[in-house]
Amino acid sequence: SERTLVLVKPDGVSKGLIGEVISRIENKGLSLVALELRTVANDIAEEHYAEHKDKPFFGELLEFITSGPVVAAVVEGPRAIEGFRQLAGATDPIKAATGSIRGDYALEVQNNIVHGSDSPESAEREIKLWFPNLS
Ligand code: GTP
Ligand code: MG
Repeated sequence: SERTLVLVKPDGVSKGLIGEVISRIENKGLSLVALELRTVANDIAEEHYAEHKDKPFFGELLEFITSGPVVAAVVEGPRAIEGFRQLAGATDPIKAATGSIRGDYALEVQNNIVHGSDSPESAEREIKLWFPNLS
């Protein structure tokens, strides 16, 4: 079994999609081991998205992710990392398949409803960042 860090981003929270995202996670057969609504501090946001710090959209991305509450969750199950990435769909919602979260609920590349860790290394780093006290 494996763990991944999932976020319902501020656009997903403001569109009322928390329940929808959690339902899809549970329907897939994954389980929640931590779940919290919180507003992200700028330093955590910077660390979370450190791999993008030299991208032209980094400033905008930080503004977006700190713009309102997010739901942060640790999701567990067999192949949880790839499993949730499949539920989320491609980064650009226009390229994301219909039936995926981004394919069904988003149009813009930045405002794409959810985040999911992209590798075991990212998952470990992100879970420590968001839930430092989780065992
Ligand atoms: P995450 O699960 O959120 O990490 O998405 P991802 O792994 O599918 O995409 P990536 O890590 O490449 O990008 C992180 C996030 O930055 C995306 O989910 C978008 O919210 C945002 N993003 C990516 N590309 C662009 C872009 O070209 N412009 C803007 N404004 N935002 C972008
Ligand atoms: Mg990513």
